[in-house]
Amino acid sequence: MLKRTKLCTEVKEKDIDKTMVVCGWVHSWRDHGGVIFIDLRDYTGIIQVVFNPEISKECHDVAGKLRSEDVIAVKGIVSKRSDETINPKIPTGMIEVKVNEVELLNKSLTPPFEIDDQVNVGEEHRLQYRYLDMRRNQIQHNIRMRHEVVKEFRNFLNDNHFLDIETPIMNKSTPEGARDFLVPSRVNPGKFYALPQSPQIFKQILMVAGFDKYYQIVRCFRDEDLRKDRQPEFTQIDMEMSFIDEEDIYGVVEEMFRTVIKKVFHKNVKTPFPRYTYREVMDKYGLDKPDLRYALELTDITDLAGKTDFMVFKETVEKKGIVKCLNVPGGAKLSRKEIDDLTSFVSIFGAKGLAWIKITDKGPESVVVKFIPEPVMKEIMDRAKSRKGDVLFFMADQPQVVYDSLGNLRNKLAEIFKLIDEDQLNFLWVHNFPLMEYDKVENRLTAIHHPFTHPKRALDDIGSEKDLIKTLKENPQDLFARSYDLVLNGIELGGGSIRIHHRKLQEETFSALGLKEEQMKDQFGFLLDALSYGAPPHGGIAFGLDRFLMLLLKQGSIRDVIPFPKTQKAVCLMSDSPSEVSEKQLKELSIKLDILKADPDQRS
Ligand code: AMO
Ligand code: AMP
Repeated sequence: MLKRTKLCTEVKEKDIDKTMVVCGWVHSWRDHGGVIFIDLRDYTGIIQVVFNPEISKECHDVAGKLRSEDVIAVKGIVSKRSDETINPKIPTGMIEVKVNEVELLNKSLTPPFEIDDQVNVGEEHRLQYRYLDMRRNQIQHNIRMRHEVVKEFRNFLNDNHFLDIETPIMNKSTPEGARDFLVPSRVNPGKFYALPQSPQIFKQILMVAGFDKYYQIVRCFRDEDLRKDRQPEFTQIDMEMSFIDEEDIYGVVEEMFRTVIKKVFHKNVKTPFPRYTYREVMDKYGLDKPDLRYALELTDITDLAGKTDFMVFKETVEKKGIVKCLNVPGGAKLSRKEIDDLTSFVSIFGAKGLAWIKITDKGPESVVVKFIPEPVMKEIMDRAKSRKGDVLFFMADQPQVVYDSLGNLRNKLAEIFKLIDEDQLNFLWVHNFPLMEYDKVENRLTAIHHPFTHPKRALDDIGSEKDLIKTLKENPQDLFARSYDLVLNGIELGGGSIRIHHRKLQEETFSALGLKEEQMKDQFGFLLDALSYGAPPHGGIAFGLDRFLMLLLKQGSIRDVIPFPKTQKAVCLMSDSPSEVSEKQLKELSIKLDILKADPDQRS
């Protein structure tokens, strides 16, 4: 067998007249007047190899039968290309290998799609033949960059005395908000492990155990509805530290991202990252993960809405709803059809309509203008800084609907009006979240971050433990969380918190969340016990590695940065998982199937 002596693009002009062996895939094939030219590809790129019957008839015969994606090794003399075949666009464009020995290492079937970034291929097809898809430049690049990024995160964390410690994959369930994936236990019939939604409790216990600083680049599993930035199994950069407060977390995290982005992407990121309270971002941008690469802001006009004769506004105010508007500079040129499309867009978020007013040469124009007295209109325009040529969008409803609809509309409009600077990396912290929210479906309070998050009384007031416990008992919804989210370009990149480290406060928090003593003991007894044996103050954070890569590599989907991703339906199209298992396997697990025929979307 021919043994490779150089990678394709390692062959240089200084090698002219030397004999080399290169190996790879047949990328393209051309026959020019009896001489066959093949672009040979390996992971480094392409080199042209030439089969001239005058040099070797035998090799030329073999080359004549080669097709795309066949795997070959060729031996030949490196030569300067003739002037008309020089290709300055590729690193090996000046040279070629004149083949005098060839070995066909493997034939390929005709690939279902071309191995070419320019060719548009349906994602299902790509995922079914992922090994071919990954041969394409873009995905090769993404996966290689993933390696570089992980290496630099590790370097940073190792250099900063974080210890890489593994935590179990087969677990007791931890409540991160999503559903668990369950694994039946053969030796304990009827019992199940849960795959970790995150290593949350274990990393806290590692702090109790005295490890001081922990990290792990760890797979997490969540059975939730998938979106372009969500996968059922994804990777976190997970961290925890002892004897620290929020400032320590901000400091180390900012430095980590600054370093990794500089080293891998050669870009400068300015630190410290700006901080916003949850209230600020909701009021101004409608979402707790605002994209601040552009300036559009929401304006509250609830007080003015009551002074109009527009029924939708008046009724909303009476029902204790809110009215907000969004001014879009230059938006008056939107057509009726475009505005109708935006109205359908906001209906996804529960909006019942989307009133609008265009500011034209003749002043404010729209069907609703007649219901708004002139001084009120003037006040609205002043407040929203609305000028000629702009459009104002209005939403009147309960706060959640208004925030959700206008927040997402804001992002949509930025896309339509091309307000996004794609090269910007806009990091920001959101903090001072409420501790708990009321879950209508579950009919109880739930933790906004997770139940181990330390409460506080107000922005800069943690409060004494006695105060916190009193409020947890009386008005838990008044409390804020010592938690923080890191947002990058409008996507939640990470979240974490300072944790509760006193048993009593943890028990009171569980209790405010509706857990009875028995449940606490059953689900979290081991954590509560651990907190009783000298738990240090601690806190941490976790980041979505896949999301980070998606953003930095400017990919439209998280699937493009994961070697073997799953589809929106949580299926691996290549290996066809999940799949049915044999009766024998089920029997060993003491499981009998009785599959409910309900619509899966209706199951809760
Ligand atoms: P959280 O649940 O906020 O926090 O998750 C942290 C980060 O993980 C990423 N992420 C996901 N990425 C892809 N697909 C998913 N399905 C998915 N779900 C989450 C996000 C998110 O910001 N244990 C806590 C952290 C802590 O408190 O230290 C936790 O897991 O980027
Ligand atoms: P209508 O009076 O229902 O014809 O609505 C007049 C305008 O108000 C239309 O542009 C609707 O899209 C809009 N609209 C209806 N409901 C709301 C709402 N809750 N908030 C904002 N605009 C609305």
